[in-house]
Amino acid sequence: MAEVRLQNVSKTFGEVDVLKSVSLDVRDGEFLTLIGASGCGKSTLLRIIAGLEAQTSGTVTIGSRGVDHLRPKDRRIAMVFQSYALYPHMTVAQNMATPLEIDRCYLAERLPLLRLLSPRRKRLQAEIREDVLKTAEQLKIEPLLGRRPSQLSGGQRQRVALGRAMVRQPDVFLMDEPLSNLDASLRVHMRKELAALHAELGATFIYVTHDQVEAMTMSDRVALMEAGEVLQVGAPHELYQRPANTRVAAFLGSPKINLLDADADVSGALSLFGQPLSVEAGPGAKIGLRPEAVILAAPQIAGSVAGRLVAMEDLGHETVLDLDVDGKRVTLRTTANAITAARDAGWIGDNVFVKFDLSQLLVFDGDGNRIETAEASAPAQAAAQ
Ligand SMILES: Nc1ncnc2c1ncn2[C@@H]1O[C@H](COP(=O)(O)OP(=O)(O)O)[C@@H](O)[C@H]1O
Ligand SMILES: [Mg+2]
Repeated sequence: MAEVRLQNVSKTFGEVDVLKSVSLDVRDGEFLTLIGASGCGKSTLLRIIAGLEAQTSGTVTIGSRGVDHLRPKDRRIAMVFQSYALYPHMTVAQNMATPLEIDRCYLAERLPLLRLLSPRRKRLQAEIREDVLKTAEQLKIEPLLGRRPSQLSGGQRQRVALGRAMVRQPDVFLMDEPLSNLDASLRVHMRKELAALHAELGATFIYVTHDQVEAMTMSDRVALMEAGEVLQVGAPHELYQRPANTRVAAFLGSPKINLLDADADVSGALSLFGQPLSVEAGPGAKIGLRPEAVILAAPQIAGSVAGRLVAMEDLGHETVLDLDVDGKRVTLRTTANAITAARDAGWIGDNVFVKFDLSQLLVFDGDGNRIETAEASAPAQAAAQ
């Protein structure tokens, strides 16, 4: 087992700075997800950890070893790709045995005819077979060992690719969007399997995805990347509830967070649709409200405001409403029960009456960085009313 430490890792392709001095500590046995939009440098960072790409500057340490001089196969890591990269002409057993043969056998012992001459051949092959079988049992793929990749479903191929990574018992698993070729229901299933596998193996997982549901559900911690930089590292709920800046706030969450230009009086005290907040901020401040922090409310309740209904999406278990409140677009998300009750009470028509859960309020300064507020640390009384 091992921790992975990146110190000031930069990568330049030609003129382009793809990674800009990334520093990140991945803990021993942790499931850490690198998340960010396509092109932000996730795969490049993973390939640098694996040794498949050389960084322009900075260092990578795995366990207590600096690995910058080590070849990929000597780093005690295994990589699982989106494309699986299985050998099509080999059976599952042969695919899984290949990394072990490369590790344990001399070149001559791997060649079809020459290997017959090796005195160690029988013993080595028996050991390798046993290790492959052990991993296959762990992944419940023993019945597939004799098949070729073309005879497997997408989910089975995924499992075999995992198996091939597992046989060498690496300290660190590196996974680059391994679920993105699977259909939606299988992806949900494999998410749970991967999380369980991580718990069982106790190895360090570094997982790359652009899918925030994968990141939120499987990870111990998430590192959110943008344009070659790590914006914030933390537990999933921490990034969601206490984003460092507007960029993190806007990336996580679906529907997106409401980021509203704050109204400030001359002294800088902020208010939200006429309701004073105990926050001060300079020019350009923004207020962040998650769609679940906007709540359907009776018109007579203090602090409730009316918004014009612009769009409504009924998803069955929840409904998403887009409102125009005083010229500002506000999205709210509510459960099926709540919207039925609000409809019956007449709070929804051309206008929709809402209030705001100020305990969930986020405030960002003119540079987009979050500032601590009294509201945000108060108990969630608004939601309980
Ligand atoms: N071998 C390469 N040569 C030139 N540019 C590259 C190379 N590999 C990646 N890039 C560029 O680096 C940026 C980051 O790529 P990548 O790490 O694959 O992003 P991600 O995995 O987050 O989608 C992209 O703009 C991509 O075009
Ligand atoms: Mg990628």
